Amino acid sequence: MSIRLPFTKKKTKEIESLKNTQNIPNHVAIIMDGNGRWAKKRSLPRIAGHKEGVDAVVKTVRAAHKSNVNILTLYAFSTENWKRPQKEIDFLMKLPKEFLHIHLPELMERNVRIQTIGDFEALPEHTKEAVQYAMNKTKNNDGLLLNFALNYGSRYEIIQAMKHVVTDVQNEKLHLEAISEEVFDNYLYTKELSDPDLLIRTSGEQRLSNFLLWQLAYTEFWFTEVLWPDFDEAVFKQAIEEYQQRQRRYGGI
Ligand code: IPE
Ligand code: IPE
Ligand code: MG
Repeated sequence: MSIRLPFTKKKTKEIESLKNTQNIPNHVAIIMDGNGRWAKKRSLPRIAGHKEGVDAVVKTVRAAHKSNVNILTLYAFSTENWKRPQKEIDFLMKLPKEFLHIHLPELMERNVRIQTIGDFEALPEHTKEAVQYAMNKTKNNDGLLLNFALNYGSRYEIIQAMKHVVTDVQNEKLHLEAISEEVFDNYLYTKELSDPDLLIRTSGEQRLSNFLLWQLAYTEFWFTEVLWPDFDEAVFKQAIEEYQQRQRRYGGI
């Protein structure tokens, strides 16, 4: 049974609940962008933006939980982010442990299950350990699924899937004729997840940056100028309310 506790950590403004509780997106995916620019505006080092970005993650998880969203996928590190200065990468790789050290008890109380998508094995040992611990600890929770895209790249995911498909065909585990969209889905990191209903990108950029290219085929997109560290429950609510006004047609009329 899930126990819902009042907000405890940093005091946040109490935002009115959603007026309309119909048509809540089942799966919300977010490209959390703008940490560096947030820091630059304050003459701080980029890592200060990443640190502040963790608080925005906490607020977003609370907001998603409160809105009855079932899956929240957060793009935390892309396969292209290895191009960044080593110091910044090292800092980013320490954040999961820091985040979980402080917030795992609250995530347990909120019945949140943690998962990842991406090339997990290529992450540093200490990052893997912290995340694996949290995944094991939360594996029986059946509330919000908090899915971190960590070392995730969509093209890499698709190539890996394709290689597995070819191997299975060669080993006669799969017939060429049996390959369908549904079958291919099962070879992706997201095999257990429904496709995102709503994609949010912060910081004013309007691109996918190699995020869920296959899975976003019919997703509704919502862009905001807000930089990720400034993202909060009010902005999340605004995105949900705009989504609720959208008409999804999937090619029909
Ligand atoms: C998003 O913020 C965080 C990651 C990509 C890890 P950025 O670090 O990309 O911030 P900007 O885009 O440079 O402002
Ligand atoms: C996308 O942001 C990746 C994450 C949010 C983790 P980037 O900042 O890396 O994307 P580009 O480089 O602006 O496209
Ligand atoms: Mg960026």
